[in-house]
Amino acid sequence: MAAGLFITFEGGEGAGKSTQVRLLAERLRAHGTDVVITREPGGTPFAEQVRALILSPSVAEHTALSEALLFYAARADHIGKIIRPAMAAGRAVLCDRFSDSTRVYQSIAGGLDRKVFDALEQLVVADAKPELTIILDLDPSVGLARAEARRIDAASGEGNGERNVDSDGAGRDRYERQALAFHEKLRAGFLAIAAEEPDRCVVINANRDASQVAAEVWSVVDQHLQRRAG
Ligand code: TYD
Repeated sequence: MAAGLFITFEGGEGAGKSTQVRLLAERLRAHGTDVVITREPGGTPFAEQVRALILSPSVAEHTALSEALLFYAARADHIGKIIRPAMAAGRAVLCDRFSDSTRVYQSIAGGLDRKVFDALEQLVVADAKPELTIILDLDPSVGLARAEARRIDAASGEGNGERNVDSDGAGRDRYERQALAFHEKLRAGFLAIAAEEPDRCVVINANRDASQVAAEVWSVVDQHLQRRAG
């Protein structure tokens, strides 16, 4: 995809992706860049409806394939209506999760055949791939504890009100309810993708203050922009 800038943020639960997306957007805007913040699953009215279905723990269990197809149905709409038009207009798109999450959650940890993942990716994403992916890396026990704290804040009215999906009695969505071993697999999965695609992916230690993480994110993005310009 020519023009624009497409950056994705990936990582396990509670890694601080949405905060970092917001801080990077502020920084890019201060440099005069026109930024679009979006997320997956979601980003369009249809994809947000699919998100509610996917994440609800009260929806009946279904297969890794049916799950992946839902993510790609949402993604097809998101790419067509938001990502491609923004890129064509020369804007910077910052997306909280994208295809690497499907590869990790549904394929590496969820058992979906890699060939099926590759085929869906080719069919739906094709050349709409991110040029830079920031992987926020964190011990899952720390991430899950952060996600828990965020839920308590949200329940007491101090949260940012972003969570709009159905949840279990403890306020957890379908994935947050999984055992620690599942979350360990996710972490290893993201690190494996980073090792496989070092030109696209940068791993950042997320076990620090948000401002320290943001400074490193900015340095990575700044270097990337300089390489691109040169
Ligand atoms: P979200 O509340 O955005 O989680 P987080 O705050 O951790 O980013 O919920 C998105 C959930 O959906 C998250 O648990 C990861 C999962 N997911 C997949 O399993 N596959 C995917 O392709 C995507 C985009 C997300």
